Amino acid sequence: MSRDPRYDILFEPVKIGPVTARNRFYQVPHCTGMGWLRPRMLAEMRGIKAEGGWGVVCTEYNSIHPSSDDLPHPSASLWDDRDIRASRLMTDKVHEHGSLAGAELWYGGMRTANLMTREVPFDVGSFPNTEGQPFQTRAMDKSDIRQYRKWHRDAALRAKAAGFDIVYVYATHGYLLSNFLNPRINTRGDEYGGSLENRVRLVRELIEETKEAVGDRCAVAVRFAADERADKDGQPIIGERRDMFEMLAELPDLWDINIVDYSLEMGVSRFVKEAPLEPYMNWVRAVTTKPVVSVGRFTSPDTMVSQVRRGITDFIGAARPSIADPFLPTKIREGRPEDIRECIGCNVCYSGDTLGVPIRCTQNPTMGEEWRRGWHPEKIAAKGSDSRILVVGAGPAGLEAARALGKRGYAVMLAEASREPGGRVSRECALPGMSEYARVRDYRLQALQKLPNVEVFRESRLGADDVFAVGADHVVIATGATWRRDRFDGECYVGIATGDGERMILTPDDIMDGRLPADGPVIVYDEDGYYMGGVIAEKLRQAGLTVTLVTPSDSVSFWAGMTSERWRIRSHLLRLGIGIETAHELDSFDGGTARLKCAYSGALSEHAASAVVMVTQRVANDSLYRDLLDRVGGDETALPFSLKRIGDCNAPAIIAAAIHAGHLYARALDGGEDANAPLPHDREDFKETRVARPSEHDAKVIAPPSAQRVGEKQIGRDHRVGAKPET
Ligand SMILES: Cc1cc2nc3c(=O)[nH]c(=O)nc-3n(C[C@H](O)[C@H](O)[C@H](O)COP(=O)(O)O)c2cc1C
Ligand code: SF4
Repeated sequence: MSRDPRYDILFEPVKIGPVTARNRFYQVPHCTGMGWLRPRMLAEMRGIKAEGGWGVVCTEYNSIHPSSDDLPHPSASLWDDRDIRASRLMTDKVHEHGSLAGAELWYGGMRTANLMTREVPFDVGSFPNTEGQPFQTRAMDKSDIRQYRKWHRDAALRAKAAGFDIVYVYATHGYLLSNFLNPRINTRGDEYGGSLENRVRLVRELIEETKEAVGDRCAVAVRFAADERADKDGQPIIGERRDMFEMLAELPDLWDINIVDYSLEMGVSRFVKEAPLEPYMNWVRAVTTKPVVSVGRFTSPDTMVSQVRRGITDFIGAARPSIADPFLPTKIREGRPEDIRECIGCNVCYSGDTLGVPIRCTQNPTMGEEWRRGWHPEKIAAKGSDSRILVVGAGPAGLEAARALGKRGYAVMLAEASREPGGRVSRECALPGMSEYARVRDYRLQALQKLPNVEVFRESRLGADDVFAVGADHVVIATGATWRRDRFDGECYVGIATGDGERMILTPDDIMDGRLPADGPVIVYDEDGYYMGGVIAEKLRQAGLTVTLVTPSDSVSFWAGMTSERWRIRSHLLRLGIGIETAHELDSFDGGTARLKCAYSGALSEHAASAVVMVTQRVANDSLYRDLLDRVGGDETALPFSLKRIGDCNAPAIIAAAIHAGHLYARALDGGEDANAPLPHDREDFKETRVARPSEHDAKVIAPPSAQRVGEKQIGRDHRVGAKPET
């Protein structure tokens, strides 16, 4: 199919100073949980973005000096010359596809505690660490500022040597440079503080110095917030930002514009929809002749075109849409936008950085697996046999297994007990704010329509006899999980009902099936700690009930802290008038009174409740799997087909895990992947030479001979202060 000419504008090249982007698709900086720790994984992943058509592909935040060390959250780094070699892996991969590579030079200030390097972080003043670590920064004096400028310049030169085409001055997101700009933070009495002119000075110097250092070949970009402080969503407080911007407007080659409120800029779909930055952006392009990039979880090509045509942005900036679908630009270019795997706005991708592990994506199971497993988001090996496969259950795991098996060319039968495929996704997407989760189902159903070798059987609940009767060569069970009515006390599952309590103990499944309590007050007991507790509480509140969310954790929706939505969830619940009780376990419920136990003191308290909804754990729906095995006395090899269970019916987890399990099953079938072969892991290569430090010479400590082999081709590296570059 040819491309819709309406979208041609998205494929125009755009000049950025000395370089030209081949189109308007711009992967803005986003971290990956890989950073300098896993350079090969990172390079492969970024290369696939370029292959998928992103005209610009940037790094994550890229530390310029060991005194900006964010571990356990792995940033990229340009600390020394070995980082050049590691970064070169990425730039080479990006250049292979004709795209530009950008490096976002970063200094954390009061947001980093430097737990590995143990360096003292600098900031505008002596401030507490904003991540809650018991450390303070050192107020930068003039020599520190001079030092910092040199580090930035040196890092820019390394970025250029590594082959980057765009080098960033990163002046937002609460890091050091944005603190210099902020009038409330920067009350310094010297020429770097106080007046607007003074506060802008350091950013101006860095732009000029970066241009002078690398501007002959590299474009210089500035990441900058369009507003001064957060207000209600969509109501910018521009303050003096416009004045600042006017002072710098023509200095860089590109403006990368975002906003102060990260929970809106990178908002989850439950609270924030496509293009939320538009009200903040409407003045920006009028003030500069330089190209502008901005973000907005853009997945609709019509929205993209509209943003460009209306002069809001020149580039379609994307972090999450490029993670969910690295081939989004190609799909638009080839006239098949319906194939786009749209981001659902769950921010599971962000949890990689929060937890210090490689990135995962709910929609894109290949994300983070490009190097380790060699997975490509659009390519998959052809089938290894003419086997027929029965997939039982069309939830996320079953749908993804059927889609990927179908793409391999297998004859697939997908049997679903209910009328509507989608499993938990179809049920959850009907809950408040969750509608975009339907994209998990819709993308896969859309793909199945193009696969005549996959047959979908709705309203087909299969028993063991039915499965045998199908006569498939392989059977995969993906029958999901059901919410429990009891709770886990740390050692075992315990019931909470006393007296008449059992009758009014409900679960999220009951609520999703429309079985709501007739009246309140209702307690939602959240031991799950992710989004479901809050969503169920909201649903009940919408029905006019008085609701209290009780959790044994110290925080509401603890795990949603990993996806950066915890703050929004709690403030949303408060706004809805939902009561909150943290650090309390649900001890018992008799149908009229719930007894809560303080997690710290053990003190019991009584609360009136007509019903409780247990958002605790789930039980795998694996009865079909077990029935099939029972037919052969548990001996799987005696079955006339191979048998496997995947997703929640194997082990309940997040949707991303179910999608991954379905995908892995499809890839592995018929030896497509050897489950027993050890996968490479992008570990440090300890053959690397360790150069003795002067203090060690004094003490006559030398590295062991086995560790002194020079000239090994290694990429992984331990970061060492003052280590000499290798030959
Ligand atoms: C997983 C993830 C990591 C991010 N890491 C960075 C980062 O290292 N530096 C940065 O400036 N912004 C970072 N961001 C913010 C994005 O650049 C972007 O502004 C935000 O995600 C909104 O764009 P989107 O809607 O296209 O995702 C990150 C976003 C995500 C989703
Ligand atoms: S993990 Fe969720 S938010 Fe992140 S890119 Fe994938 S679908 Fe989008």
